[in-house]
Amino acid sequence: MKWHVLLFVIVILFVHSNVGEAQRNALFIDCGSNSSTNVDGRKWIGDISTTENFTLSYSGIVAFIDTVDNEPTYGSLYRTARFFNVTSTYKISVFPGTYFVRLHFFPFSFRSFNINESAFDVSANSLKLVSALDIPGEISWKNTRTMSNYSSLVKEYFLNISTNQLEIVFIPKSGFFAFVNAIEVVPVINQLFVDTVNRVGGNGLKTDLNLAERGMETMFRLNVGVPASESSEDKDMWRKWESDEKYMFSVNAASILSNRSSISYSNNDSFVAPLLVYETARIMTDNGVAEKRFNMSWEFNVDPNFDYLIRLHFCEFIFDKQNQRLFKIYINNKTAAEDYDVFAQAGGINKAYHQDYVDSVPQQTDTLWVQLGPDPLTGSPSTDAFLNGMEIFKLSRNGDLAHASNRITINQPGSAGSQPKNKILWVSIGSGILSVLIISLIGAFIFCLCIQRKKVAVPVKETSPGWLPLSLHGAMGSTTNARSYKSPLCATASLCNRTGRRFTLAEIKSATNNFDESLAIGTGGFGKVFKGEIEEGTPVAIKRANPQSEQGLAEFETEIEMLSKLRHRHLVSLIGYCDEQSEMILVYEYMANGTLRSHLFGSDLPALTWKQRLEACIGAARGLHYLHTGADRCIIHRDIKTTNILLDENFVAKMADFGLSKTGPGLDHTHVSTAVKGSFGYLDPEYFRRQQLTQKSDVYSFGVVLFEVVCARPVINPTLPKDQINLAEWAIRWQRQHSLETILDPHLKGNYSLESLKKFGEIAEKCLADEGKNRPTMGEVLWHLEYALQLHEAYTESSNVESFSSSELRFADMAINLPQIKEGETASPNVSRSNYNSTENFRQ
Ligand SMILES: *[C@@H]1O[C@H](CO)[C@@H](O)[C@H](O)[C@H]1NC(C)=O
Ligand SMILES: *[C@@H]1O[C@H](CO)[C@@H](O)[C@H](O)[C@H]1NC(C)=O
Ligand SMILES: *[C@@H]1O[C@H](CO)[C@@H](O)[C@H](O)[C@H]1NC(C)=O
Ligand SMILES: *[C@@H]1O[C@H](CO)[C@@H](O)[C@H](O)[C@H]1NC(C)=O
Ligand SMILES: *[C@@H]1O[C@H](CO)[C@@H](O)[C@H](O)[C@H]1NC(C)=O
Ligand SMILES: *[C@@H]1O[C@H](CO)[C@@H](O)[C@H](O)[C@H]1NC(C)=O
Ligand SMILES: *[C@@H]1O[C@H](CO)[C@@H](O)[C@H](O)[C@H]1NC(C)=O
Ligand SMILES: *[C@@H]1O[C@H](CO)[C@@H](O)[C@H](O)[C@H]1NC(C)=O
Ligand SMILES: *[C@@H]1O[C@H](CO)[C@@H](O)[C@H](O)[C@H]1NC(C)=O
Ligand SMILES: *[C@@H]1O[C@H](CO)[C@@H](O)[C@H](O)[C@H]1NC(C)=O
Repeated sequence: MKWHVLLFVIVILFVHSNVGEAQRNALFIDCGSNSSTNVDGRKWIGDISTTENFTLSYSGIVAFIDTVDNEPTYGSLYRTARFFNVTSTYKISVFPGTYFVRLHFFPFSFRSFNINESAFDVSANSLKLVSALDIPGEISWKNTRTMSNYSSLVKEYFLNISTNQLEIVFIPKSGFFAFVNAIEVVPVINQLFVDTVNRVGGNGLKTDLNLAERGMETMFRLNVGVPASESSEDKDMWRKWESDEKYMFSVNAASILSNRSSISYSNNDSFVAPLLVYETARIMTDNGVAEKRFNMSWEFNVDPNFDYLIRLHFCEFIFDKQNQRLFKIYINNKTAAEDYDVFAQAGGINKAYHQDYVDSVPQQTDTLWVQLGPDPLTGSPSTDAFLNGMEIFKLSRNGDLAHASNRITINQPGSAGSQPKNKILWVSIGSGILSVLIISLIGAFIFCLCIQRKKVAVPVKETSPGWLPLSLHGAMGSTTNARSYKSPLCATASLCNRTGRRFTLAEIKSATNNFDESLAIGTGGFGKVFKGEIEEGTPVAIKRANPQSEQGLAEFETEIEMLSKLRHRHLVSLIGYCDEQSEMILVYEYMANGTLRSHLFGSDLPALTWKQRLEACIGAARGLHYLHTGADRCIIHRDIKTTNILLDENFVAKMADFGLSKTGPGLDHTHVSTAVKGSFGYLDPEYFRRQQLTQKSDVYSFGVVLFEVVCARPVINPTLPKDQINLAEWAIRWQRQHSLETILDPHLKGNYSLESLKKFGEIAEKCLADEGKNRPTMGEVLWHLEYALQLHEAYTESSNVESFSSSELRFADMAINLPQIKEGETASPNVSRSNYNSTENFRQ
């Protein structure tokens, strides 16, 4: 209650002070200019002759150049500057209040003033803004970080001025000079910040920050989800909103979402950010990423030893109820919020809302991470995090916003690329990905252990998170003699006899026309896939891992290990790989017809017939059955989905993507315990609950694939009514009512056998049994699918020859027998590739 009263008083005070602030005007100074210019829709006053609005204590040197490159907006403003070889002060008359003060620096040399001899401090009233600012160094540092060509620097501060004067003091270091090209003093509209803010990791406790008395520097102001080149300014306060893309740890982790109409502010706080910030967002994708247990992550270079205010802008576009989408927010690896529900916070759909957090960045840390990820334990229909905008402000601790450290030397242009990379390795974007690495190692290790049937002692610390990525990466990256390359996994396992051919990078480049974008046929969490041609004109698919992808590194290893052991007509075969120059490239047989999913929905390819669908399912089931039973020991695929089932030129289906595969339990165990991996919508709930992996988890996912084939819709579609979002739940309800045909893909209408569909539905239903032990094996699934195909063929024959009663009888007889797997279904690995195309399966 008290709180509300207080708020009310603040609002009143605030409205009141607004009246007094009516005369507060923005002031734009074009330093070193003798006239006024219009730039960026604003009038910039030259400071040659001091005006009633400001004075300059010592005029310094007026410097100018003829042309300014690479500065589309402020080029004409930056042609002039004021250089100071002694301390000088701009004294600006203002009304008390809060202001954005922006200083523009565009470095150039003028006469005897070599820009490399510029270094200075700047302060505003009693607040120190910068210390020993070395603009050329700062800019080259900034440009290497941001990859932009702009050669200017704009520093923005948020200051509370309690007197009638703002004094901006430029203090050159002895023997050096100071300079400035333009100054903006912009009154802040309304109260942009409240003083009580959630502290990260403070369990929802708010802290009082005295923001207005401390002074802040704007570090980043991002419109999330716009293209990298796009930036915009708001009309009231000329704040610049740039794209977040270059700060994203992995752009693939997110896709773009937008709604450019019907957005409104949740608290009448339109001054907080323009609507266009809320119109676009990034939302977690599953575009080929192994599973949705990852974060969307942004990484920022910041000054150590300061407090930071992090403001996140949100606007829910999809859900129109509470508790529909809950996710987690992490800042600097600490949980800032759990179960974050934008709808509830903003009070509606399409409502612009912002959330502030404060955190401290300690000494020796110069990165700030903002991560958003799913909260899988909430059970809400969606846990896909999204973000519309973000601002990061640095807060002074004791009247000093300056950071005079060795930041510039830490980030020498040359090392800027390599240094953060090492750090990125340690500061992996999420433990989810780390655990993939660990699990892969453990998995491979268990596998080798059991194969060899002898115990090898492994020091526990070798499996610690830190060890694996670094040594893996070290081995990949530092290979000077390519031929001596040895996988670190192989270092502990003797069975890693890679059968695949090793390509040179030059061969790969010539095969893909130097990774010509027009040859790209797909993108995944791992990287890009290109169509290529090797010597004899053989088409191949070339998968090139994104070098930053930790996940890629682990999956690269797993995929090579798995695929070199496996050869089967219904498994996509690996032709070779290339690991030169830290590249992770896999070469596969080319699958002309792409993913099964692309033939079901979301493209304009012609719809598959029921027979083709059955055959594709049978092919995939054969590949899986072989994985589960055919190899020396069971292999669990773990990521079965329609994007991992590929079709060749004859629509023969093959299983692909073994990046997450694991060898199954040994004879003395019934399961493997692991952290849950896989793709949302396909995940076995039992595996999810008990974290125990068996072949039956694959069977569950395959059941979802079967329903997807019938219904031709995504397994998770958050835009549908709640009871339809999850395909598995929705389809099983119809199946239980024996009316699967109601939700059948309309393309199939009239061209399928109802009997066959019924059979098919029964199989899918059995696959989705709650408990693994009640699900069929892949062998049984395969047998029933073949039966469904026979039913369909009998139906098509009979519709031609009118004699289906006898054939029905025949199949009814067959159904009574227990399904038996034919001998030929199991196959042995390591059969040479030359003869596998001619026979359906390998036989010993
Ligand atoms: C400059 O001062 C004059 C007189 O005080 C005032 O009318 C005008 O608005 C001021 N200009 C700016 C940009 O503050
Ligand atoms: C203003 O400065 C420009 C150089 O920047 C100079 O060419 C011009 O003569 C100056 N005009 C006046 C009126 O001083
Ligand atoms: C500053 O520079 C001007 C112009 O070059 C020169 O005349 C003056 O002596 C310098 N002042 C100092 C203190 O170096
Ligand atoms: C300043 O230093 C940089 C790099 O050290 C050099 O490329 C540039 O030419 C120098 N500028 C001047 C005006 O001497
Ligand atoms: C930077 O400038 C160079 C040459 O001026 C141009 O080729 C390059 O594309 C530019 N890069 C960006 C990111 O704008
Ligand atoms: C600015 O600071 C003064 C005291 O230094 C305080 O009274 C005033 O409320 C602050 N203004 C704002 C807008 O916070
Ligand atoms: C934006 O949201 C409104 C209201 O929910 C909806 O009617 C409209 O279709 C949405 N527009 C887009 C492009 O999604
Ligand atoms: C927003 O402003 C409108 C009209 O100006 C008013 O009716 C409404 O109550 C305000 N809402 C809030 C949350 O202040
Ligand atoms: C995040 O926290 C975990 C556990 O405390 C730690 O292992 C990891 O290194 C941390 N990552 C970062 C980026 O600090
Ligand atoms: C997301 O990031 C946080 C903080 O670094 C980490 O603790 C968490 O495990 C990550 N989540 C996933 C699913 O990787």
